[in-house]
Amino acid sequence: MTWDDDALLGGPDVVVPVSSAGDPPLFLDYCETGVSPIPAAVRRVHEHAHELNHYPRGLCDHAVRAIAAAHGVSESQVLLTNGVDEATDLVLLEARALTCVTPGFVGYWERANALDVAATYLPLTAEWELPEQWWHAAHPGSAFVVAQPNNPTGSSFGSATWLDEALAMFSLVVVDETYRLVADAPMRSCVHREEENLLTFISLSKAYGLAGVRVGALVGSPPIIERLARRKRFYSIDNLALHAVIGALEDPDAVASATAAVKRLRPAYARAIANAVGLFAEARMTDCTFVLGRVHERIGAHRLVTELAAGGVMVSDCAISGMPGWLRVGVTDAATITKLTRALQRCELALGADQPRRSYGPTTAPARRRSVRGAC
Ligand SMILES: Cc1ncc(COP(=O)(O)O)c(C=O)c1O
Repeated sequence: MTWDDDALLGGPDVVVPVSSAGDPPLFLDYCETGVSPIPAAVRRVHEHAHELNHYPRGLCDHAVRAIAAAHGVSESQVLLTNGVDEATDLVLLEARALTCVTPGFVGYWERANALDVAATYLPLTAEWELPEQWWHAAHPGSAFVVAQPNNPTGSSFGSATWLDEALAMFSLVVVDETYRLVADAPMRSCVHREEENLLTFISLSKAYGLAGVRVGALVGSPPIIERLARRKRFYSIDNLALHAVIGALEDPDAVASATAAVKRLRPAYARAIANAVGLFAEARMTDCTFVLGRVHERIGAHRLVTELAAGGVMVSDCAISGMPGWLRVGVTDAATITKLTRALQRCELALGADQPRRSYGPTTAPARRRSVRGAC
């Protein structure tokens, strides 16, 4: 896959016509990448479509072998799950209580609610870090489930010791590495650590472009993997999904090129937000498959999300994940940047953001993060 970087990145000053009548909706709310499914995955699904009359006998083992080999762990350390939801369910059924951070990924809280499992929410600091002595606030018998990089903050904790502290405190710690491969600086995976109470969640949705097949994996020590496996449903992952995973893992170069594309596109998305006149106080780069915009209070995040949706552009209001005032915009493909820019221009007009106004004070947001532009 190749991108025209010059055309893509040259353009914050390009004037885009303010009309998109008839465009299909743009879904930028679930952080899917614009990466096409890996061709080897599609090919394998086609080749095996005639096997729909069979249970996926033997295929799970094949997929486990492929995931174990790709991550350099043993097969007894890998448990395939029906996405992050089944992974969270298995963890919560084991630990019976959840500790998670806010702002944080809503998927964990939703599963805890669905299973009637008590949840403790640990508020992050204004800089989206764990607070000092954070582990004292935790429910020690619970599972601590956290994404690194985190969604929706798009950042990782700065502390070098947080994971050791968590492992010493909690009965189970789950590090969700869904976005690890798209982080700008290389991040070491937790899969090679040896603590028995550590699990790592691996998603195939973003870097492998397989969000539609709902497959992920928990990686951990064999005893915990075996305990969790006892609670699994009968073949929770279907035949075709397993073939897609096996096919995708046959082509590691495609994954590398997909993650490189996300990293290349992300700054242009952040710039599209930064250049939307009068809508945002701040635009942020992240280490995830999305960028962030802090909406001017006079505009309001909810109003802007609603206005964008009315124009066929779906983005996420981070209020639901503990970050009111912020929008999360998925990084998909190059063509979408122009459409997003156009949609934001329509909102500038519709919400009166383009009108002259008195100036507002500097942003109070954390300075450490990579702001693309301050107050605008
Ligand atoms: C932190 C985090 N974990 C997991 C997922 C999704 O995982 P999957 O699609 O593999 O179930 C997401 C998707 O947005 C996410 O943000």
